Amino acid sequence: MTDRRPVILCVDDEPLNLKLLNAILVHKGYDVKMAEDGLAALKVIDEHKIDLVLMDVMMPGMDGFEVCKEIKEDERYKNIPVVMITALTDTESRIRGIEAGSEDFISKPFDPAEVLARIKMLLKMKGLNDNLLFAYNCIGDLTSFGEQVMQDFDPGKFSYISNIDRIVGKLIRQTALERDKPNIVIIHTIDEFSNWHWLKYDSIDGKVVRSSIAIDLNCDNCPHLKTREQIFSCANKNDMSEAGIDAFVSILESKGIKVSNIIWYFGGNFCVFALNYGRPIKKYDTAILKNLVMQGLFLRSLSLQLSETENAFEYAIYALARASEANDEDTGNHIIRVGEYSAITAKILGMDESFVSAMRVQAPLHDVGKIHVHPDILKKKGKLTDEEFTAMKSHTFYGTKIIGEHSKLEIAKTIAVTHHERWDGSGYPAGLKGIEIPIEGRIISIGDQYDALRSARSYKPAFDHTKTYQIITEGDGRTMPHHFDPDVLKAFIEAASQFEEVYERLKG
Ligand code: C2E
Ligand code: SIN
Ligand code: SIN
Ligand code: FE
Repeated sequence: MTDRRPVILCVDDEPLNLKLLNAILVHKGYDVKMAEDGLAALKVIDEHKIDLVLMDVMMPGMDGFEVCKEIKEDERYKNIPVVMITALTDTESRIRGIEAGSEDFISKPFDPAEVLARIKMLLKMKGLNDNLLFAYNCIGDLTSFGEQVMQDFDPGKFSYISNIDRIVGKLIRQTALERDKPNIVIIHTIDEFSNWHWLKYDSIDGKVVRSSIAIDLNCDNCPHLKTREQIFSCANKNDMSEAGIDAFVSILESKGIKVSNIIWYFGGNFCVFALNYGRPIKKYDTAILKNLVMQGLFLRSLSLQLSETENAFEYAIYALARASEANDEDTGNHIIRVGEYSAITAKILGMDESFVSAMRVQAPLHDVGKIHVHPDILKKKGKLTDEEFTAMKSHTFYGTKIIGEHSKLEIAKTIAVTHHERWDGSGYPAGLKGIEIPIEGRIISIGDQYDALRSARSYKPAFDHTKTYQIITEGDGRTMPHHFDPDVLKAFIEAASQFEEVYERLKG
């Protein structure tokens, strides 16, 4: 793969001059566009990516100075070098040329060797300038992305992978014109839930599309990955084996991913592979990727800290739930199982992922108020008297009192006070009916009762899955199907085997 040929625009009202310039330039391998007046020249610049302009000064209509000025005043084009070609050698017109922003002057009649030498020098400068500007813009882009992440930061909504999506979007080629960018980016990383991912990003019709790929790295072939030492490097087509990336490239090619050049970073928790820049890789490309890696590492450490906080939060919830069972009979993993049933039911009802996960985490607090109920009642072998049952019912209120006010525990609070409400209005403490009962309460009710029925209590033996299923779906007098939200009951029927699986897996 080679750099594209530089495109030179020649502007002259004299067709013979254009012909001559064209012959000289084409011979040297340049791509030539031609225009016979100023307006036509500006049109060509709008339509093609021009690297340099050779401009006659004296033309009908706009003269060369005016055209040059237009180019230099346009943000998009001002970095294109303009060389004035003119018979005028007087100082005044040189000054006008400089004022109009032209880079150089060539006098007519010109010496082809001189024209070519100047062009070569200006193109080289332009190339360096473009590289610098490109790197500067990319790094600026990535840096402002980092600022944006900090500004928008909401710990409750932070998602590591979707931030990785955004950052890759800054690097990857999205239009055919962006030859300076890779057309595929592959990331290997571990998310906040400790899951490893191989993510492949392609740009398809200007949209960045993420997919998963399965890359089974044979570590012997890829020593960097085995040792996890931080390695930053790059290779063009013919340097792959010398750079030690050929084994990895073969794996990609075996998956139908063609690799013409590659920049890679291997790190412990975060690896990046940027493939197929539209031209050979240059040193500044690695500088841009380094910036992306820094942001990636920052996002990862942010997500790690968030997940540690989240774990501590969940741990504290379980500790509290366990503490509240101190005076109760031993209900084993009851609270954990109820969290699982609730998550399963919420998912079937189509609730969003954060709600499903909040149900799993917070449902275990449903009976936390039992800590205020006398142990003699909790552990009573027989049926409760009315008075005892009244005391028992107060565990719902005590639960909300213990949980108190915290935005992260709103679901737990609602669950504590509504988990014994019934769809037909015969529940407690408020006797709410139908959708007056918050969905959290309607969902947990069925899981709580399924699990109480499956378990042995001081006042009842354990029932098997079939009997429990029958009590819930057909009723036994104490529990009746119309106690449940019909949609929740339907979800239970659909998920009954999952309930059984959870009970079996987490019993004891
Ligand atoms: P729990 O034992 O965790 O039971 C939770 C819910 O499961 C009960 O709510 C009830 O709806 C259902 N459930 C439990 N066992 C049976 C059963 O054998 N048959 C049927 N059909 N449903 C059952 P409920 O009734 O509001 O009770 C709340 C809590 O009060 C119970 O939590 C338990 O701690 C206590 N409790 C209820 N009845 C008795 C009892 O007769 N003796 C004793 N010692 N405690 C009881
Ligand atoms: C994975 O292959 O997704 C995880 C194993 C590893 O690369 O360390
Ligand atoms: C391209 O510029 O899109 C081609 C890069 C490649 O796949 O080799
Ligand atoms: Fe309860």
